[in-house]
Amino acid sequence: MSGTTKEKVLQALLALPQEAYVSGEQLATACGISRTAIWKAIQTLEQDGYDIESVRKKGYRLASSKDFVDRAHIAQHLQTKHIGQVIHYYKEVTSTQIIASDLVQQNAPHGTVVIAEAQTAGRGRMAREWDSAAGKGIWMTIILRPDLPPHQAPQFTLVAAVAVVNAMKSLYPTITPEIKWPNDILINGKKTTGILTEMIAEADRVQALLVGIGINVNQQKEHFPEELQSIATSLRMEAGEVLDRAALVAEICRYMENYSEQYVTYGFSRLKTLWEEASGTIGKNIRATTLREVLEGTAVGITEDGVLQLRLANGDVRGIYSADIELT
Ligand code: BTN
Repeated sequence: MSGTTKEKVLQALLALPQEAYVSGEQLATACGISRTAIWKAIQTLEQDGYDIESVRKKGYRLASSKDFVDRAHIAQHLQTKHIGQVIHYYKEVTSTQIIASDLVQQNAPHGTVVIAEAQTAGRGRMAREWDSAAGKGIWMTIILRPDLPPHQAPQFTLVAAVAVVNAMKSLYPTITPEIKWPNDILINGKKTTGILTEMIAEADRVQALLVGIGINVNQQKEHFPEELQSIATSLRMEAGEVLDRAALVAEICRYMENYSEQYVTYGFSRLKTLWEEASGTIGKNIRATTLREVLEGTAVGITEDGVLQLRLANGDVRGIYSADIELT
């Protein structure tokens, strides 16, 4: 069993069949620590909000398994070799991107996941704020260390978007998430997910990528600030039920591991078709607001470099590298 004493005890409690108890002595043997250490770990878990029932002569069990996105909950579903094998979990952080950036300097390995129940300064693209309600969403950063030159890094936003869409579809077949180029995932036209990829690089080599993923999972309309209520949605609002955030994190890690390995080995060509299938942008009429101009036309595809191809009214095709887009 890996992790801290608290995590080992939590993993053991989570693994118990329903209604079963585990004694302090059994926990001590399973975790290889003293009964006093077990007792302390139980107390810390209770302080963290876990509801642990303790019955004389029977032992302990989780009275209710709270919907946390900690390592123990995610590990129950995880099927990866690298992504998510190291998880740094926090109740509250400023931004998981900031924590991840510090961890890169401390040599955090490829695939490290930083995840928090709440962010006080969650950030989006173009220095926008990202609303990160406590316990309602997935606010995580995946640290990747691909052996690639810096110009191949931006496509990881596209890779992550396909991974998130396909993970959502595999767990919740009734919902219809679509990618809005380059980094949003919408359901029925409303935003459920944003992706922010940041890079730490030397001139010719990527040192690390911080793939930040923010997903509205279990919010109801009133949980969003008023200005977001008409443009944002959550998976719960779309699927009609409360969802297991830890299971979705593990599924995203699985897709992300597969797709990022394909990208590093073969380039974007293999994933381009998957991206186009998951996209709600291709074939649509859009308005693209770039730093210099506003262009209108039909989105006809993306290039191997992830550049959006826009056919203008006069038939010219223009490449859009970075823009805000709206469907017209
Ligand atoms: C966007 O749509 O503008 C991107 C939003 C990215 C939000 C995620 S939440 C986890 C990670 N930490 C942050 O501060 N931002 C990203």
